[in-house]
Amino acid sequence: MKKLNLAVLCSGGGTNLQSIIDAIENKELFGEIKIVISNNSKAFALERANKHNISALHLSHKQFATPEEFDQKLLEVLKSNQIDMIILAGYMKMLSPTIIRTYKNKILNIHPALLPHFGGPGMYGIHVHEAVIKSGVKITGVTVHIVDEVYDHGAIVMQKAVEVKDDDTPETLAERVLKVEHQTYKEAIQLFAEDKVEIRDNKTYIKL
Ligand code: GRF
Repeated sequence: MKKLNLAVLCSGGGTNLQSIIDAIENKELFGEIKIVISNNSKAFALERANKHNISALHLSHKQFATPEEFDQKLLEVLKSNQIDMIILAGYMKMLSPTIIRTYKNKILNIHPALLPHFGGPGMYGIHVHEAVIKSGVKITGVTVHIVDEVYDHGAIVMQKAVEVKDDDTPETLAERVLKVEHQTYKEAIQLFAEDKVEIRDNKTYIKL
């Protein structure tokens, strides 16, 4: 098994980051978070990293004159940390094609619904759960997918279902979905540590 060097990119609270930190500490996930990067200097995710002695970096487009300079710096940080996989955990910025091509099939994202439904631009945070409830579907869930150049589009690695209850509000549903996210993300990343994921034609095949 290969110990994965991970970079986790966050913009907010970082509960998914926390679940990955815990999974590594509990030896459920064979990896090491080499660095946590946030575009938001106030993200609680950075504090979580500090608490666990993980390098934390505030890196924002606003610190650079051009998007290319931002990319150059990000690539430098990723390379100097010998990153195997980039884990997006509530990262609110789209990565550029340069980054996505350099780390092809090595960037994961988690989305709080069952893609390809309830995804795409504008579908983030509470908006997803509002749309789910409005649609009347009885099942929602979480999706871990590869990040490609199209928003919420890359190959699906793992999905888990969550029941939508008749009396759910977007907030109660978000809370239940988030718990399932924490369970799912670590399992999906571990599949890569075990080298069990094959990707062909925008589909993943999980080796048993
Ligand atoms: C999660 O709901 C995730 O699906 C989405 O952003 C949220 C991040 O939450 N991409 P947290 O910062 O991990 O608590």
